[in-house]
Parts: sequence; C-alpha cells; structure tokens
Amino acid sequence: MKVTVVGAGAVGASCAEYIAIKNFASEVVLVDIKEGYAEGKAMDLMQTASLNGFDTKITGSTGDYSKTAGSDIAVITSGIPRKPGMTREELIGINAGIVKTVSSNLIQHSPNVILIVVSNPMDTMTYLVHKTTSLPKNRIIGMGGALDSARFKYRLAEAMEAPISDIDGMVIGGHSDKGMVPLTSHATRNSIRVSEFLSAERLEQVAADTKVGGATLTGLLGTSAWYAPGAAVSALVQAIACDQKKMFPCSTLLEGEYGLNDICIGVPVILGKNGIEQIVDIPLSDAEKAKMQESAEGVSKTNGLLEV
Ligand code: 2OP
Repeated sequence: MKVTVVGAGAVGASCAEYIAIKNFASEVVLVDIKEGYAEGKAMDLMQTASLNGFDTKITGSTGDYSKTAGSDIAVITSGIPRKPGMTREELIGINAGIVKTVSSNLIQHSPNVILIVVSNPMDTMTYLVHKTTSLPKNRIIGMGGALDSARFKYRLAEAMEAPISDIDGMVIGGHSDKGMVPLTSHATRNSIRVSEFLSAERLEQVAADTKVGGATLTGLLGTSAWYAPGAAVSALVQAIACDQKKMFPCSTLLEGEYGLNDICIGVPVILGKNGIEQIVDIPLSDAEKAKMQESAEGVSKTNGLLEV
C-alpha cells in the first residue's frame, strides 16, 4: 500500500506520522516544493521508526512526482493555511491553482489513485478536482467532516464530563465556520441521546463551539491546527487502505442525494478499498435539513469564485 502526502507542512507531516505509526502502509511519500523540506521531514520521521515501532518506509521528494508513481492513495494538504481572523474561503485565490496542479501531477503518475483533499476551502477544492480531472467521483474525497466530528465529540465530552470513548456524534455540511451542521439530535453517550444529559441551550453552545473549532485554534496558534486534521485524514486513509467499510462524513459530489446537485459537501459515506463506496441517506430533522440547505448555498457561492 503506497500513500503520497503532498505538503510536508504541519498537517501533511502529522498525517504521514499517524499513517506510519498505524503501520498499515508499506510506503509513504512526502512531497513539498520547498527544497529539502519533505526529505528532511521524512528522515526525521524515519528516525522515530525504531522508537514508535513501525516498518512503513517514509521518503521525501522536492517536487519530483515520479517518486509518487503507483500511489494507491494521495492526500493533498498543500496550500496556505489560515491566519487568525481569516475564513477558509479567503484561501481560494492561491490554493485553487495549487490544488489543480498537484492533482494533475498525482494522477499523471498514479492514474488509479484515490485522492483525499484537505486544502481549504476544502469543499470547493474537492469540487475543483472533479471539474479539472477525469477521476470517478468515488475516488475524490474531501476531508472536513471527520475533523469537525472529532471536535464535536471533544466538546460533547467536555460538556458532560464524560470520556470521549463514550461519545458518538457526526458533523455534516460544509467545512466552514458558518456551514457546519453538528447533528446534536443523533449524538449519543454510550447509546443514550445526549439530550438526556444536556439542556437544549448547552447543546446549542456545544454546536456553536464545534463550528468555530478551527478558528479557535487558529486564534490560539497563529495558524491552522495540524494534529487533529492530520489524525482525521489518516483515519480516512486507513479506512480505504484496509477496506474497513467505516462510515465518515466526507465531502463528496452529490447528484440528488440530500436534495442537492453539482456540489461537494459533507455527508455520511462508507469508505473502503474503492474509496466512497456508498453515500448514506440518514433522517434529518426539518431544522437540520434547513441548515444543510443553507450550508450548501454557502458552498455553492464559494464554488462560484472558481475559474474552471
Ligand atoms: C481546520 O479546521 C485546517 O480546516 C482545517 O483546522
């Protein structure tokens, strides 16, 4: 199993590290444009192998995509991250060109690759890959909801003073501060609806804190987060690589599902060896349907800024 991670910055390197530590991939190739940077990150990570107990071979390449040839899965993290006070959508001008070039380079050397898009604004970048490549829709996956759901679970556990291992919850919709839809009506603490433990007001606060989870960290860190994004995308890679048939909220091209067309937005999907193997239609309350529609309008507006 060969995995390429484009962008050896904090998110890409964290993703590579988590993939290696989980030890399901034979090879991880890190690619970056900064001279020697990917090679250095790869070497540093390889020097943890004996300590962290993995056999995955991590290599680095400065812009030479021939080193990525034959990748089964490729993750696109390249592009600029947010600064405090920025929205993800403000990154489109620079990141669209990068994602277009990177996806083309990856597919040229790995025509059967499954692409996972992380670069922001992620839903629009995922849509861009559909519009500029000939990959089938099951092999173009946007990572946002898995990260947002992890932040949702964190906030739910915090509110209930419960162990996160007891919590389940999902965030669908656009990966944006205003567009996320935390499904509080479906969230549970060990199979019991969280509404049995938290008031409506507290649940609203949990949802609000979840939606700005990325911005909160950018304010604290001065740049976008990387540990949780890296961990979230490594979980998607593992589900595909190990054919786990796990369900995650991922940004995928909708053609009528959830009443939406010609848009990439976060919905529950089953991930396996073929990438997105099924889009799962779950019951939504009228309020959740309205939020999803509003979220889609926001993503479509950002898509309109693309020059494809
Ligand atoms: C985040 O929410 C980088 O969009 C990513 O942290």
